[in-house]
Amino acid sequence: MSKNFKQDVLSRRTFAIISHPDAGKTTLTEKLLLFGGAIRDAGTVKGKKTGKYATSDWMEIEKQRGISVTSSVMQFDYKNARVNILDTPGHQDFSEDTYRTLTAVDSAVMIIDSAKGIEEQTLKLFKVCKMRGIPIFTFINKLDRQGKPPLELLAELEEVMGIESYPMNWPIGMGKEFLGIYDRFYNRIEQFRVEDKERYVDLNEDGEIEGDHPIKQDSLYDQTLEEIMLLNEAGNEFSEEKINNGDLTPVFFGSALSNFGVQTFLETYLQFAPSPQARKSTIGEIDPLSEEFSGFIFKIQANMNPAHRDRIAFLRICSGKFERGMTVNLPRTGKQVKLAQSTQFMADDRSTVNEAVSGDIIGLYDPGFYQIGDTLTVSKNAYQYEKLPQFTPELFVKVTAKNVMKQKHFHKGIQQLVQEGAIQLYKTVKTEDYLLGAVGQLQFEVFEHRMRNEYNVEVIMEHVGSKIARWLVDEEVNENLSSGRSLLVEDRYGKKAFLFENEFALRWFQDKNPEVKLYNPMDEQE
Ligand code: G4P
Repeated sequence: MSKNFKQDVLSRRTFAIISHPDAGKTTLTEKLLLFGGAIRDAGTVKGKKTGKYATSDWMEIEKQRGISVTSSVMQFDYKNARVNILDTPGHQDFSEDTYRTLTAVDSAVMIIDSAKGIEEQTLKLFKVCKMRGIPIFTFINKLDRQGKPPLELLAELEEVMGIESYPMNWPIGMGKEFLGIYDRFYNRIEQFRVEDKERYVDLNEDGEIEGDHPIKQDSLYDQTLEEIMLLNEAGNEFSEEKINNGDLTPVFFGSALSNFGVQTFLETYLQFAPSPQARKSTIGEIDPLSEEFSGFIFKIQANMNPAHRDRIAFLRICSGKFERGMTVNLPRTGKQVKLAQSTQFMADDRSTVNEAVSGDIIGLYDPGFYQIGDTLTVSKNAYQYEKLPQFTPELFVKVTAKNVMKQKHFHKGIQQLVQEGAIQLYKTVKTEDYLLGAVGQLQFEVFEHRMRNEYNVEVIMEHVGSKIARWLVDEEVNENLSSGRSLLVEDRYGKKAFLFENEFALRWFQDKNPEVKLYNPMDEQE
């Protein structure tokens, strides 16, 4: 194994930022990109209301609504590390996309708004990380505003989330009285609202300021020392092993908007965050340091750049080295593919990538070859990585083109958007109507918007309501069992399923037709 290859892989840090909308994900991402030199201007991200938008937000609809809908990828170098940040949509209607993105990372950064504490969406995403054993680093944001007392926030973290915490630093006051952070890790105080040259104050062996210093005059300093003593005596011990197993989260306090505590966070994070981890496949775990190239596709997105009108498959490299032009196997089809067009991402910019290694995320031009979850490998051993989590849609609409002359565009648009996994497509078996299934209402709105803007088709969507979808174990079924309350449909892979009006209709159907075996794909993932 070449030394450079090993070093390259070990320098990778690939993570996602998870949070409830408005906790400050976009702001923190921007600050990290600034430190990495990936963007030059602060304020590129901020000001949704003033008309400036996140560099990580691509789509018009996101701009209009001020929410982050798609996951994007950003890469930058910081000191000796190459950082890959996977942005995730904060809105719960797009959880499916976020869940898939979390399969492609080695760690996660969780942002908590200090005034709000743990919010619903953060908790949901946290649970996915915990289930997958992903190390989690916590950034408690907005210390420049009055928030909950830090001890209360820690208690909430431990009680609600069931994870041990270790504060790497501790706030000295907050809001108007925010003086800075007491850094337990670097044994120094980092002062807020002071000239840069005065920012850091070193502490002695006892964790106190030696000699005179204005901050010592403030009663908040004494209070902080007391709290630090409490943490030292009664708090959890720092353990890298526990961090790696996702059992303990290092906690950092700061203010993303004021760019305070962000650099310290980044540096400490890079030190403890894991490099690319081994991933499970059908032949066992694949070592990221193995030189045989492999990876899997976790996201497909069409028309990312309206000027290009193309489709990009996002690949997480799990082992070996990618070289542009290489030929790889696609075990799902048994075919070979030449990877000639590949891109890497820099906020909303992209450029051709010639080489990449385990841990990196690259974009592959997709002429329609790929599906979400596909494994690509140069190995003759046609193994595949674990299946990606799939959601059973709960909301359905019937969709048609407003203008019958636009059928061709309509079909093309639907096919492409469905292949992205943004929305699911069904055809009713008897009447061959198109139904769309989604986890959240907003997915339909994005669909409608994109059909209009990217495919120039106005669609009519008729509300079908929420349904319970169950697939057939055996494809042979009496089509006459299809009715309004138990609608027989075919998914885009040709697999049959029933859509039931409600739990009652499902149970009634099962009682009446015990020979029809049904399953919920989500149960298999538990
Ligand atoms: P998100 O991506 O997680 O949804 O959050 P985003 O970064 O967009 O931040 C949400 C709001 O919180 C923004 O305000 C942002 O300015 C603010 N914010 C982020 N970090 C901090 C912080 O450290 N301190 C304070 N006080 N506020 C912070 P907004 O009103 O929605 O937008 P804007 O009008 O300020 O641009």
